Amino acid sequence: EKGGFKHFMLKEIHEVPEAIESALVGRFDEDLKPNLKELDEFNLEKVKRILLVACGTSYHAGLVFKYFAEKYLDVDVLIDVASEFRYRPIRIDDNTLTIAISQSGETADTLESVRAVKKAGGKVIAITNVVGSTITRESDITLFMNAGPEIGVAASKTYVNQLIILYTLGLYMMKKRGIWSEEHNIISKQLNESPKIVRKIINNEKINQLADYYKNYHHFMYIGRGINTATAMEGALKLKEISYINAVAYPAGELKHGPIALLDPTFPVFAIAPKDSLYEKMRSNIEESRARNARILSIATEGDEEIKKISHDVIYIPEAHEDLYPLIIAPVIQLFAYYIADKRGYDPDKPRNLAKSVTVE
Ligand code: F6R
Repeated sequence: EKGGFKHFMLKEIHEVPEAIESALVGRFDEDLKPNLKELDEFNLEKVKRILLVACGTSYHAGLVFKYFAEKYLDVDVLIDVASEFRYRPIRIDDNTLTIAISQSGETADTLESVRAVKKAGGKVIAITNVVGSTITRESDITLFMNAGPEIGVAASKTYVNQLIILYTLGLYMMKKRGIWSEEHNIISKQLNESPKIVRKIINNEKINQLADYYKNYHHFMYIGRGINTATAMEGALKLKEISYINAVAYPAGELKHGPIALLDPTFPVFAIAPKDSLYEKMRSNIEESRARNARILSIATEGDEEIKKISHDVIYIPEAHEDLYPLIIAPVIQLFAYYIADKRGYDPDKPRNLAKSVTVE
């Protein structure tokens, strides 16, 4: 049932390309423009505020959406973890839309947040993987992520598919609001080509080799900027939950406001540093970390030779539109955590103290 793979998690990461294909199918027209007609009753043209609610990995997918949507659309995306959201005042008006993201569709706090929004008179779009789940029944509409069953407790292919749905939703809003540009054609085209790109990445043996070296560290500092702040947070979450290594994540600019004090040769930095508009800023943060004698492992864009001068190790990923790097990098951080957990002798499919769906508060 593991299809020749040692663990479900590894199998499920290898299923990412086909999972993406299932998420995309039927959601793009021939001209590669998104089509989510089923959402047209939600007045996407008029929405001014989006409330985004989710937990854990799903929250990180939401964070990617916030950066993507706010970059192009005249909207504010207010995002919160469900366990906080549900206990704070909820303000809804005609131009507010709520998006609830939950792989299982059963997470108690996310469900209660959906109920609270509905009670306040709001509309909820759910993004889930499980047909017939409670959140899908209680929301106004569901965009299914079609990732297929995920047995590994740590989310892998479902995180990627959440991103696919959220990019598609963002792009659809851009189309509906008449701000579609050539740049969106490029993003859309690359999104549709992402299964091919990911297929190359998951077979990169370098990730496995680096895991061998890094598996004995007790701490990790993940840093990223902009849309890849979410990537850093997700990377750290994956590492801590399956390998039990203490990993913290910060927007790189925050380092000097405290966490840089932690860095020394025993505390490596995992830098998400693709060639994007914040690349130069990331470089200075890497240099600052290096000056504290921290070991640096960077994820960088193919062809970036400069990064080698300031990093001890580099994992290269193919060049892509900058907004799509969280998608391209997701399987890399997942594989890195997977290999480390396995090499440390843990079962990545069943991390201690965790359940696949958190149906209690
Ligand atoms: C981490 C992980 C969890 C879930 C979280 C929300 O790998 O899987 O953080 O993302 O418990 O679960 P869902 O998406 O089912 O609401």
